[in-house]
Amino acid sequence: MTIVDELGKASAKAQHLPAPITSALRMQSNRHVIYILKDTSARPAGKGAIIGFLKVGYKKLFVLDDREAHNEVEPLCILDFYIHESVQRHGHGRELFQHMLQKERVEPHQLAIDRPSPKLLKFLNKHYNLETTVPQVNNFVIFEGFFAHQHRPPTSSLRATRHSRAAVADPIPAAPARKL
Ligand code: ACO
Repeated sequence: MTIVDELGKASAKAQHLPAPITSALRMQSNRHVIYILKDTSARPAGKGAIIGFLKVGYKKLFVLDDREAHNEVEPLCILDFYIHESVQRHGHGRELFQHMLQKERVEPHQLAIDRPSPKLLKFLNKHYNLETTVPQVNNFVIFEGFFAHQHRPPTSSLRATRHSRAAVADPIPAAPARKL
């Protein structure tokens, strides 16, 4: 719990946020998933050192498409992402992000990003060629290709219970975005 709290504080500081958006207490009351990258070889002996973390979660959002129509969707969202200042730009962010994509079985263009920092926008552009955004009226950023294949939340991970019955009965991964 201490580690998650400290990571949340460090990330908030790095992003100049007034307060952390990640804490152990919050992690207990939502269905977000946190991926933590650890250097097992670092001191103190045997314990290693945390390099950074990535927090994701499914959220119901209303997003605009390129014709400015509202769509109700539930994409996987990038909620918080932080690599320690001493090791940024060493490829650790990419390693963590790549692991998350594999575990969550999503493509980068299917993600929604909650208030991306300039560094994260550069990161996404560099590693995943995500550049052209679809303008939104909320704080989330989505990229071209978002509406091509809508991703359905998986049944097996932490967020699943509410939807599990319907989703288990219907294993087809792509649910079209609902138009309003
Ligand atoms: N300035 C500009 N671009 C940067 C910077 C920087 N200081 N740091 C990383 N990047 C981008 C660049 O594209 C860089 O490639 P380059 O060095 O060739 O220019 C690329 O990321 C490097 O990739 P990695 O080494 O894999 O990324 P890193 O380990 O640095 O992790 C991260 C990226 C998480 C954004 C890290 O820089 C960080 O923690 N930044 C501070 C906190 C932050 O802004 N988090 C995102 C908040 S928004 C959100 O979470 C929804």
